[in-house]
Amino acid sequence: MLISTSILKIQNDLEKIKKIDQSSTDYIHFDVMDGQFVPAKTEYPDLSFLQKPIDLHLMVQDVKSYVLNYQSLHPVYITFPYEKHDHLLDLISFVRKYAKVGIAISPKTDVEVLRPYIDQIDLVLVMSVEPGKGGQPFQKEVLQKLDTLKEWQKQFSFVIEMDGGINEETISLCRGIDFAVVGSFITDFEDPEEQISKIKKAN
Ligand code: DX5
Ligand code: ZN
Repeated sequence: MLISTSILKIQNDLEKIKKIDQSSTDYIHFDVMDGQFVPAKTEYPDLSFLQKPIDLHLMVQDVKSYVLNYQSLHPVYITFPYEKHDHLLDLISFVRKYAKVGIAISPKTDVEVLRPYIDQIDLVLVMSVEPGKGGQPFQKEVLQKLDTLKEWQKQFSFVIEMDGGINEETISLCRGIDFAVVGSFITDFEDPEEQISKIKKAN
């Protein structure tokens, strides 16, 4: 399992972001919000100095514009939300021009909605909190989605990412995930390395 550290809560603290970039996190999870798909709006400083691979999580209405805005950071994955979007096949092929493609599903969304697209995407992001802000408690009800996704993984090649409320306790519930997005549990503390090793030990 790989760790993708969310820098949402430290978006304006360049020193802290640099510390994460120099830590042993596998990826940097970059949450982008537009004030429309979710009430919050993110404003990041220039992050072109980042060395770690980037996992871009768009929580936006106008996916294409945001892909164009952020493609210069060369994200490995670009994930957009299933909810409130039509023409998903068109969005998938647009995003694929720039990165591997992920689709996120909110806690109340049935995983079965992804069945028609599963052979075309590289990542499924299972939201374990409502998208919109960091620091919310993990919703255990979403865990059942992992059974279906693991079944699909026997046939299709995509990775499973879990995002929201992950700490050293809740990580042990997420059996079989490929990527754990961790925000507060890493960035609320002085020493990211110590927090990352707690997650790795607990998994
Ligand atoms: C929530 C974001 C998450 C969040 C994770 O909308 O997608 O990536 O920042 O932060 P924690 O780990 O604090 O829930
Ligand atoms: Zn996220």
